[in-house]
Amino acid sequence: MPIKALLFDLDGVIVDTAIFHYQAWRRMANSLGFDISEEFNEQLKGVSRAESLDIILAHGGLTLSDETKAELAARKNEWYLELVSQMTPANILPGVTDFFAQVKAAGLKSALGSVSKNARLILERIGMLDDFDAIIDGTKISRGKPDPEVFLKGAAELGVQPDECVVIEDAVAGIEAAKRGGMLAVGIGEPTVLTRADLVAGSLAALTLNQVLSLSAMNR
Ligand code: BG6
Ligand code: MG
Repeated sequence: MPIKALLFDLDGVIVDTAIFHYQAWRRMANSLGFDISEEFNEQLKGVSRAESLDIILAHGGLTLSDETKAELAARKNEWYLELVSQMTPANILPGVTDFFAQVKAAGLKSALGSVSKNARLILERIGMLDDFDAIIDGTKISRGKPDPEVFLKGAAELGVQPDECVVIEDAVAGIEAAKRGGMLAVGIGEPTVLTRADLVAGSLAALTLNQVLSLSAMNR
């Protein structure tokens, strides 16, 4: 199958909001009397807000009521949005703009596939809201990554088949979602962490569209 579309994760691929999520969750954990490390944070990437909170509370050995959990999740989101509100197009990660130009020039489609409910707000802040042919975010899905729902909906909205898509992801859960959806997956980060990816690059600046397309040829 020739590649017809690229499905991009947002946090950690297009913008470095992954660090904002970590800072806000860490602030919340600290307020509850424990800490979370950067290594621990890896398992929160790509995971929904509610599930992330459950993982963090289990780590801190806390069992709280649904009401308290809702309050904590809302507070974390307020702290996170304080950081997001300062974002500008300067926060677009290196290589993203050039990579998008290559995708457009090649006539390929692109979709956003993020479980974040803040995705549109972030795209607006960085001036990229009109750069995608489809946007699937946390408001359109019922299951977070590693469930493939977000990417399968992206492919469907673009009118392409899963095996005509390549997912670009920084999260272990996101690579897993792509694989479960029958898609090729490019990891952005460390090969030792993103072990299931078909190809791993340090950032979009270190990746060319040709590398992605030849990957599909290799897997045919
Ligand atoms: C993902 C992030 O993109 O979105 C996760 O990788 C985050 O860390 C999830 O928990 C949900 O985001 P939000 O903005 O709806 O809390
Ligand atoms: Mg991500």
